Amino acid sequence: MGHGIAHVMLRAGLSVLLTDASAKFLEAGAARIAKGLARDVEKERLTEEARQQAITRLKTTAKLADLAACDIVIEAVTENYDAKAAVWRALDPVCRPEIIFASNTSSISITRLAAATLRPAQFVGMHFFNPVPVMQLVEVVPGLQTAPATVEATMQLATAVGKTPVRVNDAPGFVANRVLLPMINEAVFCLREGVADAKGIDDVMKLGMNHPMGPLELADLIGLDVCLDILKVLYESLREPKYRPCPLLEKMVNAGWLGRKTGRGFYEYPPGKAS
Ligand code: CAA
Repeated sequence: MGHGIAHVMLRAGLSVLLTDASAKFLEAGAARIAKGLARDVEKERLTEEARQQAITRLKTTAKLADLAACDIVIEAVTENYDAKAAVWRALDPVCRPEIIFASNTSSISITRLAAATLRPAQFVGMHFFNPVPVMQLVEVVPGLQTAPATVEATMQLATAVGKTPVRVNDAPGFVANRVLLPMINEAVFCLREGVADAKGIDDVMKLGMNHPMGPLELADLIGLDVCLDILKVLYESLREPKYRPCPLLEKMVNAGWLGRKTGRGFYEYPPGKAS
């Protein structure tokens, strides 16, 4: 998600400082952004001159301290409260107190993340969708303490980079994943029970419901670990059995079959087609 968000910001004329805990992922992220911008030129969404300028506005760093220069920070750390909160706590003393912290969480409480920082009024959810350069929506999620000015500025930023923001209240899974993940989970139960094979389940939803991808293909795109994390948040926070993650999903995550990113999920992806 991080490289997709950076790509969209660069394409809209902003400067981006990209960081990651892993040097390997940082390098891979920058390479994918460069590839995405080249594709934008090919498809005439960007001029060659604009691409070159965008590339020069992209910087990478391994040091969180370098983020002191940023006017907004958008975090796309793995979908785990402790991991995200640790990053925000480290950034608080580094970044100017007035700048906005935006979390691209899919389901974690914005109110709770905001409370882990010294700036809950400037903390907001900014939930992008995969593939970020293509999908129109950004869910903008205020926490209990988020100031209206923070929400307004975030809505404006999303609009300025060509997205359509929708304001959604802070509730587990917000709207998108509260509705989407039970469907994906049910598709996995259907597979487990042998109602149809993976392709059959996906074909039904594509041909019968006009979904661009079937739920199992989509789960592979999102990442099965991410799907499981979101379902756990829904199940644990809303305490309703209908959100119980399918044991087959848990088993696949335990096996390391995480979808496209590992080359195997409900389908197999040959190298080069993996992400
Ligand atoms: N990364 C980046 N770009 C991608 C991509 C990917 N994984 N997959 C496709 N694209 C791009 C293609 O390059 C193409 O762009 P160009 O204009 O440069 O050619 C464009 O998307 C359309 O792709 P295709 O023509 O190959 O295929 P398509 O028309 O079938 O569209 C799709 C592909 C956009 C992914 C479409 O299948 C779709 O909309 N699927 C549903 C995606 C979805 O529901 N996303 C939300 C997931 S939920 C989420 O992200 C939130 C969360 O918290 C879990």
